Amino acid sequence: MGEDIKGILLAGGRGTRLHPLTSIVSKQLQPIYNKPMVYYSLTTMILAGVRQILLITTPEDVPHFKKLLGDGHRWGLEIEYATQDQPRGIAEALVIGADFLGDSGALLMLGDNFIYGRLDFLRQGIAANAPRGATIFAYQVSNPSAYGVVEFDRDFNVLSLEEKPASPRSPWAVPGLYVYGAGVATKAATLKPSARGELEITDLNRLYLNEGTLSARPMGRGIAWLDTGTPENLLNASSFVHAIETRQGLIVGSPEEAAFRMGFLSLEALRALIDDMPDTFYKQSLVRSLRDQA
Ligand code: TTP
Repeated sequence: MGEDIKGILLAGGRGTRLHPLTSIVSKQLQPIYNKPMVYYSLTTMILAGVRQILLITTPEDVPHFKKLLGDGHRWGLEIEYATQDQPRGIAEALVIGADFLGDSGALLMLGDNFIYGRLDFLRQGIAANAPRGATIFAYQVSNPSAYGVVEFDRDFNVLSLEEKPASPRSPWAVPGLYVYGAGVATKAATLKPSARGELEITDLNRLYLNEGTLSARPMGRGIAWLDTGTPENLLNASSFVHAIETRQGLIVGSPEEAAFRMGFLSLEALRALIDDMPDTFYKQSLVRSLRDQA
């Protein structure tokens, strides 16, 4: 199904834990070291092979994202925008995205998720997803109680899903990255708001679990999946990017580089983009990465 998968990038929410940073600027536009947060999730989606993306954010924030990303054309992408006027839950993104998705499958990513490392797990998860099934991912954490927790067998079949359990059945947390087959919007539309008034992504995934079509793929320990929701997490993620970029001289989270690598952007188009950039590490590292490809 990898062929006709579309991306939904969810970048709304309140960002309460980042107050007062988020009183003016959306959480997903905050800097992680030297780029806006959304660059990292967008880069992950591009490297997953997704070219058509619906970005969902609050009505106030749409102009800012548009200013930053435009229609995606300059990166060989097609980016559309939709709004979520209240944070009525992550699963609502699939209801909002129903027309955009049409008969396609979906890669849903939360704009505040930071993932760095070999993305084979993601490409395989997309390729192996059952036509009308769903695939989630699993990452080992020291504090699973803070997350959705998944238990799965050797064939990646999900055995149980728990939301922030006091006594987790496994150390495997579920990151904000989900793969759905065609028809997901119809399923999401059947959900009822939870006690906290949200359409819960765990409830949507449980519908697939009950049908026996929910898989979970582990992300190995070589992957970094970092939180960005609190000031301390933001600082840690920034330090991580700084450490890798300084050590390698290569950029982490560049949509331009990812689009070029995926063949969405020609060498000439990338060169033209680079020529227009001010002379920062961002530009220099893109030049280096081009030289390495040559
Ligand atoms: P959360 O981290 O649960 O919420 P938040 O970002 O609003 O932050 P806080 O808890 O500090 O108030 O959301 C996870 C991601 O999903 C984040 O990128 C925001 C996004 N989101 C929406 O866009 N709409 C929603 O209705 C919800 C619940 C989350």
